[in-house]
Amino acid sequence: MRATVAHPRAATHALRCVHCGATQVNAGPVFRCGQCSELLEVIYPERTAPPREFALRLKEIWKERKTSTLAEDVSGVWRYRELLPQVESRHVVTMSEGNTPLLPLEKAGRTLRLSRLFAKHQGMNPTGSFKDTGISVAISIAKAEGFSSVCCASTGNTSASVAAYAARAGMKSIVLLPAGQVASGKLAQALEYGAHVLELRTDFDGCLKVLHEVVKKFPACLLNSVNPYRLEGQKTVAFEMMEQLGWRVPDHVIVPGGNLANSSALGKGFLELRELGLIASLPKVSIIQAQGANPLVRTMRENDGRELVQVNAQTRATAIRIGNPASWRKAVAVLKNTGGACEDVSEEEIAAAKAELGAEGAGCEPASAASLAGLKKLVRSGFVKPGETAVLVLTGHMLKDVDYMLQAQRRYSAGPVEPDVAEVIQRLEQIDAGN
Ligand SMILES: Cc1ncc(COP(=O)(O)O)c(C=O)c1O
Ligand SMILES: [Zn+2]
Repeated sequence: MRATVAHPRAATHALRCVHCGATQVNAGPVFRCGQCSELLEVIYPERTAPPREFALRLKEIWKERKTSTLAEDVSGVWRYRELLPQVESRHVVTMSEGNTPLLPLEKAGRTLRLSRLFAKHQGMNPTGSFKDTGISVAISIAKAEGFSSVCCASTGNTSASVAAYAARAGMKSIVLLPAGQVASGKLAQALEYGAHVLELRTDFDGCLKVLHEVVKKFPACLLNSVNPYRLEGQKTVAFEMMEQLGWRVPDHVIVPGGNLANSSALGKGFLELRELGLIASLPKVSIIQAQGANPLVRTMRENDGRELVQVNAQTRATAIRIGNPASWRKAVAVLKNTGGACEDVSEEEIAAAKAELGAEGAGCEPASAASLAGLKKLVRSGFVKPGETAVLVLTGHMLKDVDYMLQAQRRYSAGPVEPDVAEVIQRLEQIDAGN
């Protein structure tokens, strides 16, 4: 039986502009405010904080669902459906997304003198990135609205996720990719899941701009993170993380930033938990960008978040190679509401952090490693203090970008060895000696 609770309900929702505050019923094809063209966010006007006993009961209900066999209960997104837009079961497209591990990083935590450090590994989602949590919600709503095609522009992971969920839903998927700038693992996924892939001679920002115009004339639902339902799915990582931490709020949560939807969603999740009285305080949510793709860092430094400073993005962490982030206003609000920091890290710092995470058995893709590189910088600056607790959000699986790893791991180029016991032992001794 589907467990239900009377309060708060899987709420009726509205869409509100993050800039002028106008609410609207119909999002239109590009999910922008009819008054000022800024992004929209999902709000739940009828939701109020439940009595304390009820908040506790809600936590119990979410826990109980983990032992259910119903697809919506098994999902680490739809399990929290009281805090999501209402969608009829027949429209829900789910592949047990969420349910990702919270891995202690003992070595890195010790080195940084933190009392506890964890990696919330969103790369363990069905298609290997956090995108699945958001796509599950956005595509379910597209299905409920009667769309038979969905589309996205992507640095790679969104395309893999959209293609997979569309295939599950029996929908057509169209993806626009920046030619030559997508890690091969991600491109291969999109193709294998059956997407109609178009590589454009531009960057991600250029692809998104074109797609905005396409959807005004072409009947496909836009699943980029300008679609505010994406963030509703992605915010559930905050709920799951808190459950895994026994509802003890960490001092810091650190996340890489590209188009800035994920950091915005994470912040929204924590803010909603606090509004509902499910947590008493907020973690500081800090956002880390690559130095060559740091529009938010510059926006905060140069005008305290008032006007976006666009950059011409360059970084080998291709997932965050974005110079004109759509969700910048939402991310600025998260930094201000949670007291988080915004930092940028060099290519070398990303590569070193990625190798360290790999060496601790928690490998990830380059963009994800920006979180550890950023944490190190925040420890050095004193923003993160000895004895504090921190969670890194690892956004993508290490197999997404194999070329990056093989180039970084020089040991591989030592070449093959003859199948001879003595030679193998000799090579092992050389490795032991550090050659
Ligand atoms: C692995 C990975 N990390 C981080 C990001 C950045 O997320 P956002 O664009 O929501 O800031 C992306 C986006 O594509 C990604 O694929
Ligand atoms: Zn507006």
